[in-house]
Amino acid sequence: MSYARIEIAPSILASNFARLGEEIHTVEQAGADVIHVDVMDGHFVPNISIGIPVVESLRKATRLPLDVHLMIERPEEYIEDFVRAGATRVLVHQEATVHLDRALSMIREHGAEAGAAINPATPVLMLSDVLDKLDTVLVMSVNPGFGGQKFIRGALEKIRQLNQWRTRYNASFRIEVDGGVDLGNVAELAQAGANTFVAGSSIFHASDPAGATRQLHKLATEALSHKV
Ligand code: DX5
Ligand code: ZN
Repeated sequence: MSYARIEIAPSILASNFARLGEEIHTVEQAGADVIHVDVMDGHFVPNISIGIPVVESLRKATRLPLDVHLMIERPEEYIEDFVRAGATRVLVHQEATVHLDRALSMIREHGAEAGAAINPATPVLMLSDVLDKLDTVLVMSVNPGFGGQKFIRGALEKIRQLNQWRTRYNASFRIEVDGGVDLGNVAELAQAGANTFVAGSSIFHASDPAGATRQLHKLATEALSHKV
């Protein structure tokens, strides 16, 4: 199945923005599968990051899929702009829209893959009625807004539950995990059922970002092959 492939998704939030092209080149050469782009509006989360022009520039700088994580209120108002800018995947927060079903449909209609993200306090049950509209479920393992936070272990149980749903309902969405992912927990997360691993600090703040990317890949892949 398509979701079975491990993906390492470096989050550029932790990169040096003055050297963004080089930073991306480094992780791409090291085998990164996806580039994770954190968009924050200062309302849904208490921080402001980057937006549409940066996605446009990134689209020209890499061939990798762009995973655009919208931490913004009323995301449906910006979906078309982000897809046009080059987003391969658009992830909206369940908590940020009262029209999640509509937002997910819009993403696919505009030609991108659709994802829903849930905060640490949001149960996976909130997504039970939109499973057929999801290409990805993003489980936040920190409260969104900042890089470098401590991993919240409750995310593991949510990933296990989503993995069970996937089997039970014969669904094929990817399970993505974001926040505090590092060499110490990536194997456990892979065993729980996660497929896409967002990593900011543990890659870009490492002394060897390329090495960290390769190690994350290796540990996640090995964890799956040892799974009984
Ligand atoms: C947090 C962002 C994350 C962040 C992860 O709100 O969604 O993508 O960059 O950073 P680390 O890996 O440092 O926790
Ligand atoms: Zn993110």
